[in-house]
Amino acid sequence: MTDSPDLVIRGGRVIDPADGFDRVADVLVRAGRIEARGAGIGVPDGAREFDAEGLVVAPGLVDPHCHLRTPGGEHKETIESGARAAAAGGYTTVVAMANTSPVVDHPAVLRDIQERARGACVRIGQLASISIGLEGEQLADLGRLAAAGAIGFSDDGIPVESARLMRTALEYATRFDLPVSNHAEDPTLIAGASMHEGRVSARLGLTGAPHQAEEIMLERDLRLARLTGCRYHALHVSSGGSVEILDRARRAGTRVFAEVSPHHLTLTDELVAGEGEFAFDSQAKVNPPLRSREHVEALRRGLASGTFDLIGTDHAPHAEHEKLAPFEEAPSGFSGFETALGVMLSVVGDGVLGLPDLVAMMTINPARLYGLSAGTLAPGAAADIVAIDTDRAWTVDRWRFRSRGKNSPLHGATLRGLVEMTLVGGEIVYNGAG
Ligand code: DOR
Repeated sequence: MTDSPDLVIRGGRVIDPADGFDRVADVLVRAGRIEARGAGIGVPDGAREFDAEGLVVAPGLVDPHCHLRTPGGEHKETIESGARAAAAGGYTTVVAMANTSPVVDHPAVLRDIQERARGACVRIGQLASISIGLEGEQLADLGRLAAAGAIGFSDDGIPVESARLMRTALEYATRFDLPVSNHAEDPTLIAGASMHEGRVSARLGLTGAPHQAEEIMLERDLRLARLTGCRYHALHVSSGGSVEILDRARRAGTRVFAEVSPHHLTLTDELVAGEGEFAFDSQAKVNPPLRSREHVEALRRGLASGTFDLIGTDHAPHAEHEKLAPFEEAPSGFSGFETALGVMLSVVGDGVLGLPDLVAMMTINPARLYGLSAGTLAPGAAADIVAIDTDRAWTVDRWRFRSRGKNSPLHGATLRGLVEMTLVGGEIVYNGAG
């Protein structure tokens, strides 16, 4: 990374929410780091130049929530294919969940992933599980996992049912100053469910997951986070009722970072009903589920009023043949890296939040939560940078994803906002053409 020649990214709107920098400027990259940023930086001899006029130049995006499927699920994604998809989506650092096979509940599994991640084109932070085998019974050895480099703990994919186990995990994690995240949906309330409980599930005759399942477990977790003082990452918040719960907890002093995913801000459960051959469309199946318009509106109001800190893709690649199973048996999740930014720029376009706020939620905020030295363009920082054409419209073609997971409910949709270039440590890892 350090051998590449200097690079000047010239004339873009440089947005760095870490210190409120937002103006048309040049960025000078030297030896893999940001050397300077400002107006009229000259081009040093031998330096390359990238014309960013009309583009937004931001810190490389940081995803606090994705699934890279390695080890054990390489038919869905490998670290390499996932990293390439992330780079194409503007991400330079991603935080991977522990629901692999074997589960990341032992330092040996963690070290194996770290070894593979070294060759990836983006930076990967790995979480370890809370419980052994994600079984929710026995606490994993959080101390040894922390010492081996886990950057936090989560059983995501499977909610931690036992309040006692969750409390203990939060207590331990506090000692290592690491965050804990949970897939907050009470399992007893969502048993057998495959979509949101509401008018659409009733019409389709499918068992639904009530939004109260999320609110009940989120409330429990936030109270335990307050009790223990642990940094808590509320994953993929999907219920409108959770907004008030998060606001109240924060006012009470809970150390919570609240995440919302692009799909929960833009899509509804009507997509599951689909039409014609796309009825009972498993491409629209995700956990927690797409909910009704009222929930989407409430989440957008929460976004506008500052309830949320993080945008998490919940990138959850699956193989096509798996998604082709009957709706109730098909796995949940969307391949999200390559569409997240375009979807979120549409939310900005709708006037729900400003671009610098979005950039903060996709860069410095997740970096701070996980203690990562990422998410800023300050001089001295690693040159992890994304250049974005926020006006360029494009049509989603899931078959052209870099990810092995072609599963997306957005196939055929038009998004506005395209990544032109992604740099990691000064190296171009994506150049628009792919
Ligand atoms: O839809 C989902 N898919 N939600 C999760 O929490 C897990 C994820 C997966 O691993 O496939």
